[in-house]
Amino acid sequence: MKANIVLLPGDGIGPDVVDAAVRVLHRVAERFGHEWTFSKQLIGGVALKAGLPPLPPETLAAAMKADAILLGAVGDPSFDNKPPAERPEAALLGIRRELGVFANLRPARVWPGLEEAGPLKPSILAGTDLVVVRELLGGLYYGKPRGIEKDNSSAVNTMAYTRPEIERVSRVAFQLAQRRKRRLLSVDKANVLEVSRLWRNVITDVAKEFPDVTLTHELVDAAAMKLALAPSRYDVIVTENMFGDILSDEAGAVCGSLGLLPSASLGAGAGLFEPVHGSAPDIAGKDIANPIGTIASAAMLLTDGLGLHEEAAAITAAIEGVLRSGLRTADVAPAGVTPVGTRAFTDAVVSAL
Ligand code: IPM
Ligand code: MG
Repeated sequence: MKANIVLLPGDGIGPDVVDAAVRVLHRVAERFGHEWTFSKQLIGGVALKAGLPPLPPETLAAAMKADAILLGAVGDPSFDNKPPAERPEAALLGIRRELGVFANLRPARVWPGLEEAGPLKPSILAGTDLVVVRELLGGLYYGKPRGIEKDNSSAVNTMAYTRPEIERVSRVAFQLAQRRKRRLLSVDKANVLEVSRLWRNVITDVAKEFPDVTLTHELVDAAAMKLALAPSRYDVIVTENMFGDILSDEAGAVCGSLGLLPSASLGAGAGLFEPVHGSAPDIAGKDIANPIGTIASAAMLLTDGLGLHEEAAAITAAIEGVLRSGLRTADVAPAGVTPVGTRAFTDAVVSAL
């Protein structure tokens, strides 16, 4: 297969982990006889620092023509005091919107050998393997009106959803549940928010199209609590944008490190693949970031983006093999184990492939 993959390393550790994933993708191309064309573009703080908008038109144009997009991270504390449109994050919201990627799949599971890397007892964590399906183009992130008064006297954001927005993401979640355990949990705040009442009503209607899947509902506060107490009871969770943002970070912590979580943002066209972790500016360029989240995002790019399942499975197996051999990056290394760097961990994944 030939594919045109746009790389958006972005800020902080973005370049470290995207480099790692690209090396793995090169090896996959070599082993399976594919041909990738990579084009690297600026996004976020690095674009702003080059005097460009956070999402430069050239970057967007390249992404719109791509078969798939691999993104590292955006976010740079030096822009913390800027208005939303002049912050690196604006680029991420913009590219998601332009690509129309409304469904964000964030799988979280315990990797073999990392059962003790996180804060939970291995007995509680055992068997955890869930996917958060986060609605990505609605809710508080995009709702209008929004704004803050110049004198800091008040501010407003709007949580709004329409029926079609809820229907399309629900269908993605139901279809995913059909391929897994045929259980779907919808998370909302229907005891307080009208938007959540609509969410619950619409998803209950959509459930009629999927009689083989059992739909249940949980309030977001209870879900956050139970995710920490009993993560293995979850399978597919569908929720609105902000709740999904929060619950997916929690799921990452529960599984040992946010550095482990990949994601796929899907819509009608090319998908956007990125690790769930942020730019982590404090460790940028130091060769210590965990590349697993991004390498696993590259695996999702192959399956969900290009339909290459065997290749993606090979990447997953390679990561598992390297973990079994005992290599650990600093975020998941237990006391007494000397951590390896981003590059050394990636070298091992590439050789396992
Ligand atoms: C994520 C991130 C982004 C989000 C930020 C960087 C805008 O936290 O992808 O989860 O909130 O969506
Ligand atoms: Mg987040």
